[in-house]
Amino acid sequence: MCGIVGAVSERDVQGILLEGLRRLEYRGYDSAGMAVINNEPRIQRAREVGKVAALADAIARHPASGTLGIAHTRWATHGEPSQVNAHPHMSGERLAMVHNGIIENYQELRDQLRGEGFEFTSQTDTEVVAHLIGKYFRETGKLYDAVKAAIAHLRGAYALAVVHADEPDHMVVCREGSPLVVGVGIGENFIASDQLALLPVTDRFMFLEEGDIADIRKGSVTIHDRSGAPVERAVTRFEHGTDSADKGEYRHYMLKEIYEQPKVIKATTEGRITDSKVLEQALGTDAANLLENVRHVQIIACGTSYHAGMVARYWIEELAGVPCSVEVASEFRYRKHVIQPDTLFLCISQSGETADTLAALRQAKKAGFRAAMAICNVAGSSLVRESDLVIMTQAGPEIGVASTKAFTTQLTALLMFSLALARHNGLSEEREADIVRAIHQVPGQVNDVLALNSEIEEMSKAFMDKNHSLFLGRGSQYPVAMEGALKLKEISYIHAEAYPAGELKHGPLALVDSEMPVVTVAPNNELVEKLKSNLEEVRARGGELFVFADRAADVKAEAGLHVMQLPSVHEITAPIVYTVPLQLLSYHVAVLKGTDVDQPRNLAKSVTVE
Ligand code: G6P
Repeated sequence: MCGIVGAVSERDVQGILLEGLRRLEYRGYDSAGMAVINNEPRIQRAREVGKVAALADAIARHPASGTLGIAHTRWATHGEPSQVNAHPHMSGERLAMVHNGIIENYQELRDQLRGEGFEFTSQTDTEVVAHLIGKYFRETGKLYDAVKAAIAHLRGAYALAVVHADEPDHMVVCREGSPLVVGVGIGENFIASDQLALLPVTDRFMFLEEGDIADIRKGSVTIHDRSGAPVERAVTRFEHGTDSADKGEYRHYMLKEIYEQPKVIKATTEGRITDSKVLEQALGTDAANLLENVRHVQIIACGTSYHAGMVARYWIEELAGVPCSVEVASEFRYRKHVIQPDTLFLCISQSGETADTLAALRQAKKAGFRAAMAICNVAGSSLVRESDLVIMTQAGPEIGVASTKAFTTQLTALLMFSLALARHNGLSEEREADIVRAIHQVPGQVNDVLALNSEIEEMSKAFMDKNHSLFLGRGSQYPVAMEGALKLKEISYIHAEAYPAGELKHGPLALVDSEMPVVTVAPNNELVEKLKSNLEEVRARGGELFVFADRAADVKAEAGLHVMQLPSVHEITAPIVYTVPLQLLSYHVAVLKGTDVDQPRNLAKSVTVE
C-alpha cells in the first residue's frame, strides 16, 4: 500500500504533490512526507506523523519550493508510524526516494550495506533501497544506471520514485508488483500510484508494465522494459467523466458513495442487458467462447470483494448449475490445489491491484486453468491487464476505505455473469427474463432503502455503547450478513461476527444476552420461516434483535424485536438491496461514535502488499 506521487515541471510542484497526497490518502495515512529539489540545487525534505494535513501545515510554515519533487503517504509495514520511518528516505544529503511495496530481502541487504559503512536511521525496508541506489550512484555517477543496478538485487514488490540533487532535471521511477502510472502533461510530467492523484493536473496517463523503468523529465518520458529494450506505453485518457475525489454536499465519502449506488448499479448494467436478457457480447467479445465449456468456477478475492464472491456462488450454482468454489486469495495462494478440468478462474477486486489476488491469479495461470476472468473497477489495473475476460464495474472512484458502491456493483456484474453462464447450461428464457426484469428494478429499490436513512440512524443509537454484535443470515443473505459485520467492525470498531442463522445454536447462542445486539437480514424467501425460529431462539435468551425484513415476510415488531420493513424484492436480487441498510447502519454507528469514517484506523483501501 502507501501512495506515491512525483512531479517535474517548470512551476513549483509543492501544491501538486500535496493535492496528490490528499487524493492518495485512502492508500495509507499514518505519516506523510515530501522531498523537493530547490534551485541551489539541494533537497529539502519534510516528514510528519499523521495525515497529509499535518504535512501541509509543516510545509506552510517552511515552504519547500522547487520544480522537481516526490512525496509519499504511508501505511506502515516495516517500523512503526514515526517521523524517522516516514518517506522520503535519503542516502546522504543528495538522494531521496519514495517507495510503495515490500522488499522481502531487506534484512540481508541491510546487513550487507551496514558492513560497507552505510548508516540507517529508520526501521524501514525502503531506506535499504535508498542506500543501495546511493551505493551504485557512487559507482556509476548516473541516477538511471544506479536505479537499474540496485533493483536487480531486490526481491519483493515495489514502485519507486528517486531524485538526486546532482541531476535536478529528472526523476527515475520503476515498478515491479506495485502500481505506478505516469501522468502526461504539457511541459511537465508526473507519476503516482493511482491516476486519481493527478486528475487536477492531467487526464492523460501511461500505465507502466511490470519491470519497467522510466526516466521522467519535463519534456519527455523514456521507458525501458525489464530486458533493457526501449518501449512505448500507450497514452490513455482518464475513463470516469466526473472527478469523484470530491465529497460534494456529503459529510463523508462513504455516505456519498452509499447514495451513489442507484446510479452506479444502473451504469453497470447499461449496454449489458435488454428488457429480458443479458447481452453476452457486452461482457467481452470472446465471452461466448470462454463460457461455453466451463465446468467449474473458482472465485478468488479479498475483503469485501470476497463477500461478493460468496454471494455469486449461490447464483452460479442455482442458476447455472455449475459448481463454484470461493476462497480468500491469501489462503489460496499458499496451498496445493486440486485443479478441476475446464475451471474458470474469476478474480474480484475493486482496485485490481490487491497483491494477494494478483499473486493467486498468476499462480493459477501457471497451473493451467481454462480462462482468467476479472470483475474490477479500475481500468488499466494489473488485474484487468492480466485477465482474458473482464467485466468492469462502473462504480467510479471509491474513496471511503470501507467499500460500499464497489460491492453492490460487483454483485450486479456477478449476477449478469451468472446469467450468461447459466444460458450455456440450460437456463430457460423465461427465468432469465424474470431475473433481468428484477435487475432493472434494483436501482429503484435501493432508492427506497435510502429513504429509510433517518429510521436507520435512529436504530443505530442502540449500538453506540455496545462492544459486540452478531449478524445472521441464511442462504445468499449469509454473505450479506458477513459484509454487514465487516462494515461495522471496520468503521465503528465494534466487534461484529456473522453467522449462518442455522449455526446459532451450535455456539454463538452462548454469547447472547442484552449486551449483544443481533442483526438479521430476512428477505421473503423460502428460508424465512426457518429464520423466524432462529429469531425466537435469540429473544428467549434476552437478546435484542434488529431485523431487516421484506414487508411481505410478516415479521412483527415486539419488545426486544426491532423491525425495519424493506421493499419487496426478487429473491435473486435481494442480496444487492439488503446490503444497503447494513451500510447505513454501520455508517451512523460510526458517526455517533466519532470515529474516522472514511479512513478508519489501521486500514487502507488498496492493499498492494502481502
Ligand atoms: C482492503 C480494503 C477493502 C477491500 C479489500 C480488497 O482491505 O480496505 O475494502 O475489500 O482490500 O480490495 P480489492 O481492491 O481487491 O477489492
